[in-house]
This record gives sequence, structure tokens and C-alpha cells, in this order.
Amino acid sequence: MKSSTNVIPSTLPKGAPPVRHYLQFADFSTEEYHYLLARAAMIKKKFKTFEKHHSLEDRTLAMIFEKASTRTRVSFEAGMYQLGGSVVHLTTGDSQLGRSEPIEDSAKVISRMTDIVMIRTFEQTKLERFAANSRVPVINGLTNEFHPCQILADIFTYIEHRGPIAGKTVAWVGDGNNMANTWLQAASLLGFHLRVSTPSGYELDEKIAVTPDGMGTGSYKTYSDPMDACKGADLVTTDVWTSMGFEAENEVRRTAFAAWCVNREMMAVAAPDALFMHCLPAHRGEEVEAEVIDGPQSVVWDEAENRMHVQKALMEYLLLGRLE
Ligand code: CP
Ligand code: NVA
Repeated sequence: MKSSTNVIPSTLPKGAPPVRHYLQFADFSTEEYHYLLARAAMIKKKFKTFEKHHSLEDRTLAMIFEKASTRTRVSFEAGMYQLGGSVVHLTTGDSQLGRSEPIEDSAKVISRMTDIVMIRTFEQTKLERFAANSRVPVINGLTNEFHPCQILADIFTYIEHRGPIAGKTVAWVGDGNNMANTWLQAASLLGFHLRVSTPSGYELDEKIAVTPDGMGTGSYKTYSDPMDACKGADLVTTDVWTSMGFEAENEVRRTAFAAWCVNREMMAVAAPDALFMHCLPAHRGEEVEAEVIDGPQSVVWDEAENRMHVQKALMEYLLLGRLE
């Protein structure tokens, strides 16, 4: 029987959950996040005690990078090996993606030979086009619009250090970029308050972050002065002034963002036990003072490590569903 062109059959075994993708934070429910965060804690504990956790034996992850990476590459690759699987690493330059093979054709081919795909690319629409043509789950490893794996790791890190994040206050200082958009979706789903302070002209774009069903609306407040955003905050977080793909704006941004450097004064007005986070890579002396990122309130190295633990839970969940 000829199958319908818009039904992409999964290669997953009978009984496995239907193919789901993780293209933005809003793709999972609050309840699914509670499961995932608990599962990641269990997986991390096993890793720390050298206990084998081979839930994805014989499975292959394809990693496609159209932008540079250190953490995303290492965390997905090491994580997949630790789950008993293997990886294939592709970049624009060393694959036919760089020679204009349509993303739809690439998705059809890659998803016939691998079990799960992680993509770092430019426009979210490119990721969506890949997912629409993939037989297997697709994970957003960063787009211009979103970085859900990073926020998942950040929330896991907050909980590890301070307990539940619901009801807490997160201050975002800097660009209204992919990280800020994702924080907004997370605030809505996980019930914390988000304060956003960006220079004029670099505001968060609600049209990107708010989902068609309204998730994200009203879940944040804007502040023109970053000091006001930080007052009493439980977590202060920032990111580079110029994200990948926007390098041409570097000089203009340097001027516009000068007052959006997270410094000791900002941390001093935050809650006494406030944490500092940065997804990294960081530029000391630009978006953050060295004394803050290298200071006692900073948890950036835990944040980076936790990428690996949460992504192991994520890949397992997308392929095998709920395991306990
Ligand atoms: N935070 C993050 O995604 O880092 P990389 O760009 O090094 O992957
Ligand atoms: N906003 C940054 C995050 C890097 C991990 C970028 O997109 O370049």
C-alpha cells in the first residue's frame, strides 16, 4: 500500500511512543519537565558513581552543526556514548548541506540511518523544515530564536543549588536573543517570574517567544535599568552581546550594550543568595565582569556540565518515553 506523503513513518520499534521533536521549550508540558528534571538527576547520580546507564545501546545520534560549538558538541557526543550509543558529526562545510542540498532531502536521508538528530542552525524555520521531514526525533541545539537545551540545563542547575524554581525571580540582563526567548517560555511553563532588561532596540520579540496558544504572554516584566531588574532577584543571567550570525553588528552592539554588563553592583542588589549564570562562551569585561563570573555566586561550570546530564534524559525520553 502506498503511504500518504505527509505521514512520515517512524523507524522506532512497535510500542515506542510516536515521534516527538524538541524544537522549542514550549514543546513539553510542565509535567513532562518535572519528569525530565528528576530523570536527569538520577542519570547524573549514576554517572558520578560510575554506574553504567546504557538505555540507548545501538542507537545513533546525528549532530548537525551549521554554527560553531564547544559545549553542545561535547555534551551531546559524550552523553550519547555514555548511554551506550554512538554519534555522527556533520557540519555545513563537510556535508552536502553546504552545497545546497535541500534541508528536506537531508532530513529524509539522515533520519533513515540514525535514530535521533540534533541540529544547530540559523532560522528556526530551517529546523522545523528538517523536523517535518524526519522519521526520528529532532532536537534544537540552538537556532537564532531558541536554545531550549541550555535553559533546561540552567533550570536543572538552579534546582540543584537552591531547590524549586517556581515562584522565584530570574533577571535577564542583555540581548533579547534566543536565550531570552527561551527563558520566557520556561517562566510560563515552570511558574517563575522573569524580568528582562535590554538596551533600547534589542528588546525581546514576543512574536517569536509567545506560542500560538499564548504561552509566554504576561510572564515577564521589562526594565530599562538593569539594576532595577536585578533588585531582589534569585538568579541573574546574561549572554554575549552579539550572538552567532549577527557578527556584522558587533561594533554597534558594543556601544549600545555598554551599561548591560553584569557587575558586582548588580549582584549586590540581587537576593543575598542569588546565583549568576551564563550559557558560555563569555566575554569578561563585556556582558559580565570577571569578578562576577569567576566569583562565589557563579555556577557557570555546573551549568555547562549539566547540559550533558539533561540532554541524556532528553534523548532517552524522546526515544523511549517515560521509563518509571
Ligand atoms: N552554551 C552553548 O551552547 O555553548 P556552545 O556554543 O559551546 O555549544
Ligand atoms: N546567544 C548565543 C548563545 C551561544 C551559546 C548565540 O546564539 O551565539
